Amino acid sequence: MKTNDPRQLYLQQTVQALQNVLARGLVGEPLQAQAEVVVGPRAGAVLLYTGLGAGRVLRYFATDHAAAARQFIGWPFTGEPGVFMSGRAVRIEVPWPDNLADTEVRLDRVGGSPKGQGRWKAGIDERGRVITAGVSDHIPHWLISGTTGSGKTVSLRAAGYQFAQDADQNRIVLIDGKFGSGLGVLHGLPGMVGPVATDVPTARDALAWVNRQMQQRYEKLTNAGEQALSGLPRIVVLFDEFQELVSDPAVRELTRRMLAQGRAANIHVLMGTQHPTIDAFGDDGSLKRNLVGRIALKVTDAKASQVALGDSLPRADRLAGKGDAYVVAPGHVYRAQMVLVDQRELDPAPRCDPLLREWPESQPQDYGQEPTVRWSYTGAELAQGLIAALRGWGRRNLMQSLANAGLGRPGADRASRLLVLGREQFAALAAAGHVLSEA
Ligand SMILES: Nc1ncnc2c1ncn2[C@@H]1O[C@H](COP(=O)(O)OP(=O)(O)OP(=O)(O)O)[C@@H](O)[C@H]1O
Ligand SMILES: [Mg+2]
Repeated sequence: MKTNDPRQLYLQQTVQALQNVLARGLVGEPLQAQAEVVVGPRAGAVLLYTGLGAGRVLRYFATDHAAAARQFIGWPFTGEPGVFMSGRAVRIEVPWPDNLADTEVRLDRVGGSPKGQGRWKAGIDERGRVITAGVSDHIPHWLISGTTGSGKTVSLRAAGYQFAQDADQNRIVLIDGKFGSGLGVLHGLPGMVGPVATDVPTARDALAWVNRQMQQRYEKLTNAGEQALSGLPRIVVLFDEFQELVSDPAVRELTRRMLAQGRAANIHVLMGTQHPTIDAFGDDGSLKRNLVGRIALKVTDAKASQVALGDSLPRADRLAGKGDAYVVAPGHVYRAQMVLVDQRELDPAPRCDPLLREWPESQPQDYGQEPTVRWSYTGAELAQGLIAALRGWGRRNLMQSLANAGLGRPGADRASRLLVLGREQFAALAAAGHVLSEA
């Protein structure tokens, strides 16, 4: 074992002190503790294996802000030790002082960006292994939470920058609740759909665009099956400071739909927010349920940690800030130092015009209705239904709507199909006497 690393020495001292006092009966009966140490980038960890004594050891060290554990830590630390069970071990995790912390994990150090499949190199774990995150069927969306200065913006920039390196597969939509100060620097990287949305009206327009894409993709799926989406780029929406925008009902509704329904349409969200409280997500728990991937940077308190991680342990309020994080994917929790992407990477990056100079203006019907009711019915019924529902839209619009829905002339006899209908439309159809049946 290398002994010229002061962090190793500190950890070994701590282990010895702990083993001695446990053997002398610190927590009741004398315990023989096997120990393992981990020199993480931002924290050192001691894992104590004490078999059946683990419960007692945990209780002894975890209570009172780890007051007992602090007595054995041989280095000057700021912040809080974390004590929790990790497998069969009692784990004591303590931040390094600034001069021993490793806060510069750049892309070149983790081997450049991964190509394809919606992945990005997010950070390194405490053993120095690269953590590759991704958006997929498995993890459609990520919640990135943290207090001010914790590293949300840097994490989002790192992901966005890597998505842009894969521009033929990714369409990137940027929404910034802090006037563009966070994600503005990504503007013009390849793959951007439109300008960075920095206010509520633009955020509505951008999100409505995404939702229209989603609807079109669902229609393709309905008509032609999953094959229809192969070759279409994934759409990734990056939010910085979501809490600043969520009070707008249209933003909230459009976001809710993307989170609930984006996965099948290959539409994904990385949501950075300071306050991952239930309130910030409205009263709809589905918002949170769909954010399967979690990057919890330092948060302010235990309650915020619980929401950020979806679990009460470990404690993200004990993290050290500046990219120190718990990364949670189903079945795994990693303490990570997030990749640092800043001017050094962004200044020389090639730029181009976004695909759209302006976002098309959104219309109230883009977010006024919930497309959550699915009904199946025949093509003829659908055609008549659309006529009723769209009465007043004019014939050209109607024909266009039918074409978009994959239908031929009104009255053409097509197989039963699925369509996502708004509740108001459904009510209008029912009122007009059309018989619909639930799929
Ligand atoms: N992954 C990282 N590696 C190294 N340093 C980082 C990392 N993330 C953040 N930092 C440091 O912390 C500072 C704040 O990070 P960032 O701007 O991402 O925080 P934030 O969570 O977006 O906070 P704010 O509320 O201020 O927007 C950065 O300027 C940088 O110095
Ligand atoms: Mg920020």
